[in-house]
Amino acid sequence: MKSKMLKLITSVMILGLAAAACGPAATPTPAASAAPATQMAQPTATEAAASTAAPTQASSSSSGTIALLLPETKTARYESADKPDFEAKFKELCPDCKIIYSNANQDANSQLSQAEAALTNGAQVLVLDPVDSAAAGAIADKAKAQGVPVIAYDRLILNSDGVNYYISFNNVKVGQLQAQSLVDDLNSMNITDPQIVMINGSPTDNNASLFKKGAHSVFDPLVSSGKLTIAKEYDTPDWSPDQAQNEMQQALTAMNNKVDGVYAANDGTASGAIAAMKAAGLSPLPPVTGQDAELAGIQRILTGEQYMTVYKAIKPEAEAAAQLAYDLMNGTSVPSSMTNGDTTNNGSIDVPSVLLTPVAVTKDNIKSTVVADGFWTVDQICTADYADACKAAGLK
Ligand code: BGC
Repeated sequence: MKSKMLKLITSVMILGLAAAACGPAATPTPAASAAPATQMAQPTATEAAASTAAPTQASSSSSGTIALLLPETKTARYESADKPDFEAKFKELCPDCKIIYSNANQDANSQLSQAEAALTNGAQVLVLDPVDSAAAGAIADKAKAQGVPVIAYDRLILNSDGVNYYISFNNVKVGQLQAQSLVDDLNSMNITDPQIVMINGSPTDNNASLFKKGAHSVFDPLVSSGKLTIAKEYDTPDWSPDQAQNEMQQALTAMNNKVDGVYAANDGTASGAIAAMKAAGLSPLPPVTGQDAELAGIQRILTGEQYMTVYKAIKPEAEAAAQLAYDLMNGTSVPSSMTNGDTTNNGSIDVPSVLLTPVAVTKDNIKSTVVADGFWTVDQICTADYADACKAAGLK
């Protein structure tokens, strides 16, 4: 583990992301458990060549245009973290470069138009977080035909050989952390054969499939041995919190309100599930999982409405994407020494991958994770409504 960490840290430093991984000087060092580790992948000769139409020894330029294409606005992270973190890093690398930014608001067709517009307007690299992982293959194909490299940001782009890099988290691990936390909490309550509801993410998001796969890898053996029942399971179109609320309402009706735990794939769907259970008068609420460490999610954890979330350090993810976009824009070859051979197959090719490590957060480790990492300050979390809960959790 130690040597792996060392290797990973070395990889990051070679990529020039030391600051991103360790946090800026002003940011408190994250606790060991919260430190995001990265795994860099070895691009094959073909992939490295495909990564850019420009010569590999080109020198860094002080001007150019790239595009950042994000998928939606209902989930807080994109506008409040991914976009500003990416833009800040890219502007630091290239103050006079232009960033074309578009958000597709969960519409895959809009995203296609936005990508086409970016290509028409001179984008030399696309950083694309797809609404629909499979449909976005067509965007990567178009970009490749024009010699424009593509970075699959956070969500993999499937079935295209035009994807040069994939930067994300270990998403199967995200699902495992969520499911294991829920099982541990149900065990601690000595509930035999708990009845749970699964509220998964969007069926068009490849990450949602990975979270689900990770969660099932924990739940399914327990289901087989009669120790847990998945009473209802839903895929949630567009990751919509409203839709999650409807799903939970249906589940409660079908189950006569007898639900012991809820696997919700992110904090938005968790908020919908919790709203449905509150409306149905459940008290106390059963444990609910989440993801993203959204401010509202952390606050719900403090008051006991939500059991856990998964913290994914967005800054290193966004900064790695910005650094790679800059390198690809300049045609700079990515040093092979930074990689450890990690790739992800997208149905067409093995895409060199940077995969960061997610961390489970419950009331007990808010301080040593999101607060220590500077993701949220105590003042942001502990507003007047949460003063007592913060005190009880040792936050303030
Ligand atoms: C991201 C999550 C996010 C979800 C909804 C996933 O692809 O990894 O962080 O909550 O999409 O936007």
